[in-house]
Amino acid sequence: MATGKRWQILVLPGDGIGAEIMPQALRVLEAVSSEIGTLDILTHDFGGVSIDRYGVPMTEETLQQAMRVDAVLLGAVGGPQWDDLPMEKKPEKALLNLRSALDCFANLRPALTFTALIDASTLKPEIVSELDVLIVRELTGGIYFGTPRGVELQNNRRRGFNTLEYDETEIERIARVGFDLARKRRGKVCSVDKANVLEVTQLWRDVVTEVHQSYEDVELSHMYVDNAAMQLVRWPKQFDVILTGNMFGDILSDTAAMLTGSIGMLPSASINARGQGIYEPVHGSAPDIAGKNIANPLATILSIAMMFRYSLNQPSVANRVEFAVGDVLSQGYRTADIMPPKPSETLQLVGTREIVDSVIACLKETEI
Ligand code: IPM
Ligand code: MG
Repeated sequence: MATGKRWQILVLPGDGIGAEIMPQALRVLEAVSSEIGTLDILTHDFGGVSIDRYGVPMTEETLQQAMRVDAVLLGAVGGPQWDDLPMEKKPEKALLNLRSALDCFANLRPALTFTALIDASTLKPEIVSELDVLIVRELTGGIYFGTPRGVELQNNRRRGFNTLEYDETEIERIARVGFDLARKRRGKVCSVDKANVLEVTQLWRDVVTEVHQSYEDVELSHMYVDNAAMQLVRWPKQFDVILTGNMFGDILSDTAAMLTGSIGMLPSASINARGQGIYEPVHGSAPDIAGKNIANPLATILSIAMMFRYSLNQPSVANRVEFAVGDVLSQGYRTADIMPPKPSETLQLVGTREIVDSVIACLKETEI
């Protein structure tokens, strides 16, 4: 059912497996496009490829374009050839500048285990089966952006410093996102901080507690980040929504990713107050495996599903894409990263392109 609406999407494939996966993942977008309306898809260089071509990881034109579209779909950035550049020129800087310029402060990282993948996790099945945790990470503040920052010479010694800062409005708005999402899930928020040591995270705890007064139907708990890291691998099912700052969220989301079997399965959405979003897999550019047709495209495909849900207002299409991914896994198709060490005969090792073929075949079966 076409909606007659016109959507603009900026695609930034980036580097490594990002550039390899994106054209494949776009085939999924194409397969459902008739149900969504008209999609205007623009593609720009971003990250290392942009450095090579234009000398900067993101051109001003790309940034301006990103501000105008409904959603940005991003692959991954980075690679060893750009690692030694100064901080300002690194591919990762483009990512941070993009998040910041679009004010995409709310980063949603679901960690969801697909039943068919239980064996791919390094944890015991009873720990990870039917796991559904959502990490809500503040994305445009905290130590990633705080000033002063730098490395300077002091008494003939180099001294490096960064600043962890949050003001109460930044904490309040991300707390609201966490509580609102918890209401649509199992109604629990665990706010993660280091309030026993860091003043800024004591403020975090205070503000989250204040915001909670308008969400009394949601259960709120607080946890120190070191304990949260431990609890995530000890008994992850105790969590529903984990609400945390930029750096703690970065670290905990990689841990949560591993619970699901592979970081190759995890999508993310970074959204602003206007509903615009940046959608990207949690995994990086993995240059070592790029170009071999072995990378797992499912995280990017699931990011497209999140884009349908949060920026394009098409929850039923989002559900169908997620269902198709689950179906492909149930049918036994696996990329190398999600193949168990001793696979049963029902599993079939496939490449990037082939697993996308299967997702599209499943989508066609459920076509409305
Ligand atoms: C992530 C990544 C980024 C981050 C890097 C690439 C800048 O690790 O999205 O989790 O730290 O936010
Ligand atoms: Mg990270």
